[in-house]
Amino acid sequence: MASIPRPGKVQAAVIDWFDRRFPLTDSVDEAMYQKVPNYANAFYYCFGGMVFILIAFQLITGIFLSFYYVPDAAGSPAPSYTSVNAIMNTVYLGWLVRGVHFWSANLLVVMIVLHMARVFWTGSYRAPRELNWMVGVIMLLIVLAFSLSGYLLPWDTKAYWATSVTIKIAAAAPILGPFLESVLQGGPTLGPNTLQRFFTVHVFVLPALIVLLMYVHFRLIRKHGISEPL
Ligand code: HEM
Repeated sequence: MASIPRPGKVQAAVIDWFDRRFPLTDSVDEAMYQKVPNYANAFYYCFGGMVFILIAFQLITGIFLSFYYVPDAAGSPAPSYTSVNAIMNTVYLGWLVRGVHFWSANLLVVMIVLHMARVFWTGSYRAPRELNWMVGVIMLLIVLAFSLSGYLLPWDTKAYWATSVTIKIAAAAPILGPFLESVLQGGPTLGPNTLQRFFTVHVFVLPALIVLLMYVHFRLIRKHGISEPL
């Protein structure tokens, strides 16, 4: 098995220092030099990887957006609304970062559907990969929750009324409806508390969950290997 290149004395000394305290070379070897079967060359086997790249885009552009976005809906115009305006019009390349965040969020849903279709088509949801299919379903729900919570953040008219409809749908659920409404809304009406909740879920809760589940997804893929085509 190949190992990571050791170009110079200083680099070798640094790598050795780490290797004696942490399995650096072993971990990199394990991550980088896995043999991939030939049949995984087919283009439809790359959809999962593209989903991963798009999620990485979302995390990076999301961090840049959070440098300027203000999750505050008090007052008129609300700081959340004016901060998004500033990102679009005054912040250097803000329009581009927000554009990438928006478009890769849309593309992400398309790619996940294609990835699921491939997994379904090749029968890869069957034993022993059922658990990974279930992990995938949870990740799909998380991605949809990302879309839903992110939609409110610009705090413009469209965001407000779309979320109002979403919350009303949840409120109409049998038995749990009123509970769901108050949890989502954070009070008797849609307002600053709702934005605060959606923001926290969008930037803290969901990213932590999806990173954790992607780790589990990839460990399971390593354990079972990529399934063969039918
Ligand atoms: C949301 C983020 C997701 C990411 C980043 C992701 C990533 C990946 C990657 C990179 C692979 C390797 C093979 C390939 O690319 O086709 C894979 C395989 C797999 N994925 Fe996903 N996936 C996600 C969502 C899902 C969903 C929604 C499902 C199903 C509901 C799913 C079920 C599976 C299964 C069962 C495999 C194993 C397939 C095999 O062994 O052939 N994944 N995933």
